[in-house]
Amino acid sequence: MQKGVKKEMAKITEEVKEVVGKSKGFAVATATKEGEPNVVPIAFGKVLSEDEVLLMDVFMKKTEENIKANPKVAVSVWDLDALKGYQFKGSARIETSGSVFDDGVKMVKSMMPELSPKAAVIVKVDSIYVTSPGPDVGKKVE
Ligand SMILES: Cc1cc2nc3c(=O)[nH]c(=O)nc-3n(C[C@H](O)[C@H](O)[C@H](O)COP(=O)(O)O)c2cc1C
Repeated sequence: MQKGVKKEMAKITEEVKEVVGKSKGFAVATATKEGEPNVVPIAFGKVLSEDEVLLMDVFMKKTEENIKANPKVAVSVWDLDALKGYQFKGSARIETSGSVFDDGVKMVKSMMPELSPKAAVIVKVDSIYVTSPGPDVGKKVE
């Protein structure tokens, strides 16, 4: 009998969503194919669905190049007041047209009309880990 391949699934729960909402931004880590790391702060982002996060590309250079060469990303969010945080791991894809891109452009322009986003970076989240200090640190959110 052939064994089924278990696909990694993550669920962005209401509790996780709350921390995303309170986070001052997203720390977005990428790497080249060779493993050279890069991390940048991103302000324009939101939860798109139960397992997707949207980050708007306005100024990305190395981040964009890295994603094209190696889609694996890690994203950290945290609520400093509540000392709560989560880490997302997954794969990013870049979209430069369509409804997600259009909605993202609206979001950016509603806050800063002078900016012209280049692309929507959509992170398909495969796993979520607790970064909150305390007994659950490092645990996977199931
Ligand atoms: C507070 C803050 C918020 C930022 N928000 C965004 C953003 O929403 N989108 C974006 O493309 N760049 C944003 N940037 C710029 C990126 O952090 C970074 O400078 C840019 O991606 C170029 O770096 P890279 O070549 O390593 O990608 C922000 C920078 C700061 C300091």
